[in-house]
Amino acid sequence: MSAANQMLARCCAELYELPIVEYLLGQSFHPGGTKLTRQLATATLVSPNSRVLDVACGSGTSARLLAANFGAVVAGCDYSTTNIQRAEQASRTAGVNHKTQFVRADAEQLPFAAESFDITFCECSLCLFADMNTALQGIRRVLKPGGRIGISDFFLNAPVPDSLDGLLGKVLCVAAAQSADGYRESLSQAGFEYIRIRTVNWTLADMIRRIRRRLKLLATANVAANTSLPVDFGDPAAVLADLENFIASGGAGYLIATARRA
Ligand SMILES: C[S@@+](CC[C@H](N)C(=O)[O-])C[C@H]1O[C@@H](n2cnc3c(N)ncnc32)[C@H](O)[C@@H]1O
Repeated sequence: MSAANQMLARCCAELYELPIVEYLLGQSFHPGGTKLTRQLATATLVSPNSRVLDVACGSGTSARLLAANFGAVVAGCDYSTTNIQRAEQASRTAGVNHKTQFVRADAEQLPFAAESFDITFCECSLCLFADMNTALQGIRRVLKPGGRIGISDFFLNAPVPDSLDGLLGKVLCVAAAQSADGYRESLSQAGFEYIRIRTVNWTLADMIRRIRRRLKLLATANVAANTSLPVDFGDPAAVLADLENFIASGGAGYLIATARRA
């Protein structure tokens, strides 16, 4: 990995380790939270017989859900050592640690044997990776033939506004998002077939409402939301307003995509 790409992955990992991020987003670091994860699990046919890999698993919320509610055996990997430790601890607390395993790893160099998983998840993370196509090829490698991938991500219909086009936009999964056709093309090129894309824009309104409510609470308590961030991202409320306007104008939306390893 180049130095610039390492910097991006580290910055992103550090951001998603911050308590303020969990406070604003909740335990699932993606729009739609566990409700969307359940939808993705149903769409990819997760069952008690499934061995699932969650790539960029954050603090392991989805992995725990898939183990506890769908009976799957789940491995999760993430660039953040802190979130991997949190995932391990939370799995022990939830009593599902016999069904989960967490590994600190770069999504572009998955440390798992070829053809070892039935299903791979990648929620709100694919467009964070320096090279999405390399990550997709790695995911294909670890999937069994006929195995399934489920992703969720922002998609773009228009260029992002300047305020969302920097590092913040990138780590919020917006700046480097693809068009819906772009994801379809990348999945196809990486060797996936039966690609199905569904728009789930309801997740964005929920997420924006939650963040706005929580930013207001912070303001009432006179706590600055951007203290102790690894990089100065400016005024979070202003960035949120720009994101909301961009979504309202049809510039961006949120999707889930499922496909099968050819
Ligand atoms: C938006 S969060 C999503 C986390 C989780 N999938 C969820 O939905 O709760 C993005 C995650 O990607 C991880 N990440 C970023 N770049 C990565 C990389 N190159 N390899 C592995 N994880 C990475 C971050 O550490 C962070 O936990």
